Amino acid sequence: MNTEFSTVTLNDGFRMPVLGLGVYKALGEGEVERAIAHAVNTGYRLIDTASVYKNEEGVGRGISACSVSREELFVTTKIWNNAQRMNDVEGAFHRSLDRLKLDYVDLYLIHWPVPGCYTQTWKALEKIQASGRCRSIGVSNFEEPHLQMLFEMSGVVPAVNQIECHPLWNRKPLVTYCQQHNIAVQAYAPLARGLYLNREIILQLSEKYGKTPAQIGLRYLVQRGICVIPKSTNPDRISENADIFNFTLSDLDMDLIDSMDEQFRSASIPEDMIGQGVH
Ligand SMILES: NC(=O)c1ccc[n+]([C@@H]2O[C@H](COP(=O)([O-])OP(=O)(O)OC[C@H]3O[C@@H](n4cnc5c(N)ncnc54)[C@H](OP(=O)(O)O)[C@@H]3O)[C@@H](O)[C@H]2O)c1
Repeated sequence: MNTEFSTVTLNDGFRMPVLGLGVYKALGEGEVERAIAHAVNTGYRLIDTASVYKNEEGVGRGISACSVSREELFVTTKIWNNAQRMNDVEGAFHRSLDRLKLDYVDLYLIHWPVPGCYTQTWKALEKIQASGRCRSIGVSNFEEPHLQMLFEMSGVVPAVNQIECHPLWNRKPLVTYCQQHNIAVQAYAPLARGLYLNREIILQLSEKYGKTPAQIGLRYLVQRGICVIPKSTNPDRISENADIFNFTLSDLDMDLIDSMDEQFRSASIPEDMIGQGVH
């Protein structure tokens, strides 16, 4: 396995690993701690959690027990919608740090662009960043109009936009827009929760490159300059998902995967965001 995982330089100068471990739904007893231990031993350095995942305490325990120092890791968490509505950004951030038992996080994201709230949330994130308690600030599930709104009211461009992205929903226009504005795109649900792994094109490419279907899908994203945070708590799959840096898909095969796009959303929109103009 090639454990020399790449990093990208964010627009604020900090570096972020291209590959990270997603931990949504890792809620079993000791589950997230074990996943982090295995991932870190495999070479992962980024862990993606959120207050709404209800596992920040476990993530904190996993970090303090793992085999590398805090400074070598890149930890992301996110502010949930209710805290935005209550204008309690500072409080929510403080509680996340407390649960994680950390002095700082590497990246703090607005989880969803809650209408009427996300611009003031962004201002609050700027203050948290200025205080040194988080290195980079960014957004998630933001479409072009949400980003335009931030550009108009703030001089700070989000370092990252974390969006659902995979072969069944390749997000070409939004990815291009972000890349043009120097916003790193990080793909969540990069495996579409397993839903494209048995598609014919992916199976053919799996055979051709001697790589698993998941590795083909993740490599497709990384080759487009998109960072990935596949979730697994299974040690074999954690290792499998990391073994994507030692082969290259041809341009024709990239086009073939492009052709699979059907704007398929695998992750659900939170109830309180339905009908709020998020596509
Ligand atoms: N910002 C947001 O709104 C948002 C939304 C959703 C997710 N996220 C973040 O993105 C991360 C990843 O997204 P996700 O968890 O929704 O979906 P995902 O990573 O696309 O898929 C995870 C599912 O695929 C399985 N899996 C993992 N590796 C596999 C492999 N090599 N072969 C076959 N199956 C495999 C996992 O099961 P096992 O665990 O059993 O391996 C799990 O059921 C989340 O954990 C979270 O950190 C963010």
